[in-house]
Amino acid sequence: MADLDGVKEAKNFHAGVPQQSDGFFLKGSNSLDWGMKNRLARIFNPKSGNTVMLAVDHGYFQGPTTGLERIDLDILPLVPYADTLMLTRGILRSVVPPSMTLPIVIRASGGSSILKELSNEEIAVAIDDSIRMNVSAMAVQVFIGGEYEKQSIHNMTRLIDQGIRAGIPTLAVTAVGKDMARDARYFRLATRICAELGAHYVKTYYIEDGFETVTSCCPVPIVIAGGKKIPEFDALTMAYNAIQKGANGVDMGRNIFQSESPKAMIQAVGAVVHNNETPEKAFQMYNDLKNQG
Ligand code: 5RP
Repeated sequence: MADLDGVKEAKNFHAGVPQQSDGFFLKGSNSLDWGMKNRLARIFNPKSGNTVMLAVDHGYFQGPTTGLERIDLDILPLVPYADTLMLTRGILRSVVPPSMTLPIVIRASGGSSILKELSNEEIAVAIDDSIRMNVSAMAVQVFIGGEYEKQSIHNMTRLIDQGIRAGIPTLAVTAVGKDMARDARYFRLATRICAELGAHYVKTYYIEDGFETVTSCCPVPIVIAGGKKIPEFDALTMAYNAIQKGANGVDMGRNIFQSESPKAMIQAVGAVVHNNETPEKAFQMYNDLKNQG
C-alpha cells in the first residue's frame, strides 16, 4: 500500500492550459475504441500515416511459395524493416520468436487450396486464439462476385463482431476471381462493401486507371497488395503511385521476398511509403543497398 505519511500537496494543475483532444490520425478511425486505435497505431506509423506490411501468408492456400520455403532463414531477417508481419498462426508459433515485438496481422480465414474453389473459405482462427497471440489485426479474404461471396462476407462480418468485442481491428482482403475485371469499378464496389460492413481497413490491388476513385470513396484506409513479381523499379513505381493516389501503405509479399535482394527492396519500399521517395531515388537506394550486400 502506498505510504500515507508525508503526502505532498498536489499543485501542478496547469490551470489555463486546455487538455489536448486531438483527432486520431487514421482515416475513418476516430470513433474507434482506445484498444483498436492503439493496435492500428502499431500497424500504421503515426508520423507518416502509412504502413509497410510484409505479407508472408501465401502458404495458407498454396503451400511453400517461392521465397517462403524457409521463413526462418529468409523472412525473419527482414523483420527490422517492416511495420508489421502478416502471416498464419502456424508459421507464427513454429518459426517466429515470441521475443519479436513487431505487430502481427494474423491470417484468420482459410479452408481452400489452389486445387479447389478458392472462395470457399471459413473463419480459420478463433478470436480467443487471436487474443492469445496478441495480434494487432485479423485478415479475412472477401470474394466479391465470387462463387462463395456471401459466405466470405459473413466470415468478415463475424470476425469484425468478434474483433470489436476484443478491440482487434479486421483487415478485409479483397480477392479477385479469375474471370473478374480488375478495374476501378470493381475495386470501388469490393472495397466499399467491406468498409460499409465494418472492416477497419481494406487491402486491394493497385490499378493505373482510376485508383484515386477507389481510395477516395472508401471511408477507411486502403493498403495495396503487391501482386505477382515484377521488376523492382516497376514495383517501386506502383507503390509510389498508390501512395500518391491515396493508399495508406502496402501489404507486399512476392515483390519483396522474391526480389533479388529482399532486404534492399523492403527498405526501398519503406522509403517510398513513409518518406514519399520517388521511384527513381528509391530504385537507386535499392541498387546501393543490394551492392553493399
Ligand atoms: C494472399 C494474400 C497475400 O498476403 C497478398 O496477396 C500479398 O502478397 P503479394 O504482394 O505477394 O500479392 O492476401 O491471399
